[in-house]
Amino acid sequence: MPSEKPWETERAELLEKIRHLEERLEQVAQLTAVGELASTTTHEFNNILTTVLNYAKMGIRHQDKETRDKAFTKIYDASTRAAKITATVLGLARNRKPGFEPTDLVSITEDVLLLLDREMNKYRICVERDFRPVPEISANANQIEQVLVNLLINARQAMPEGGRLILKIAPDPTGQTVEMLIRDFGTGIPADKLPKIFDSFYTTKKGPDESGKGGTGLGLSLCKRIIERHHGKVRVESSLGKGTAFTLRFPALPAQEPPRE
Ligand SMILES: Nc1ncnc2c1ncn2[C@@H]1O[C@H](COP(=O)(O)OP(=O)(O)O)[C@@H](O)[C@H]1O
Ligand SMILES: [Mg+2]
Repeated sequence: MPSEKPWETERAELLEKIRHLEERLEQVAQLTAVGELASTTTHEFNNILTTVLNYAKMGIRHQDKETRDKAFTKIYDASTRAAKITATVLGLARNRKPGFEPTDLVSITEDVLLLLDREMNKYRICVERDFRPVPEISANANQIEQVLVNLLINARQAMPEGGRLILKIAPDPTGQTVEMLIRDFGTGIPADKLPKIFDSFYTTKKGPDESGKGGTGLGLSLCKRIIERHHGKVRVESSLGKGTAFTLRFPALPAQEPPRE
């Protein structure tokens, strides 16, 4: 039937175009996420630098031993923190490979928290951690970091007056799944909006906040795609005025068998 071919071709072409646009959208969303991380790191460094400069000035101005000792200790502490952050960011940069590797969700989360520590303090967010030892998951660490940054920033932005942010990581009772809970006590999401939050470009924010984050509506759609690529699941529960809880589940890798004799 000659009439069928063009229709089929047109359909295939349209599908190809959609696939291409989806790929582009993901690239944009990923750049946005990398940009948010870069902005966080730059702010962190700026804060550390301010501390170092101020205590150096103090040590130069006041020559007594006590003041100098205090100044050196503060400079030492700030520089140690800077070194830790550099190591984390370099770790992220090195791990640009697209592949999946056995990964410890707890240590990735700790890296992300190290970067967001000051920002959380600044917005008076009290992060409560309950991390149990968990089996490794097969993951691309960079992508999981992007998921965590977006979920943590969303939680922070939902609590403009500050508040508690609960993070839990634990194996499920069967040991076959690693579960992560991110619970805030912020604005919550109206029930009729809940199905929309994972749509690309759905946002209730007016634009990026003063730290350059959020407002694109690309965060959760990217999170969802990344989680699905990891054969994981994400569930959200929210109650208006009370807060929101995101639960992530990833399949655990089987424990490493000891090598046979
Ligand atoms: N923890 C949360 N508390 C309240 N609302 C949230 C939370 N996380 C996401 N949302 C809602 O989902 C929308 C989409 O989130 P996201 O895709 O990350 O985009 P963005 O952060 O750029 O707005 C947000 O604008 C907000 O309305
Ligand atoms: Mg967001």
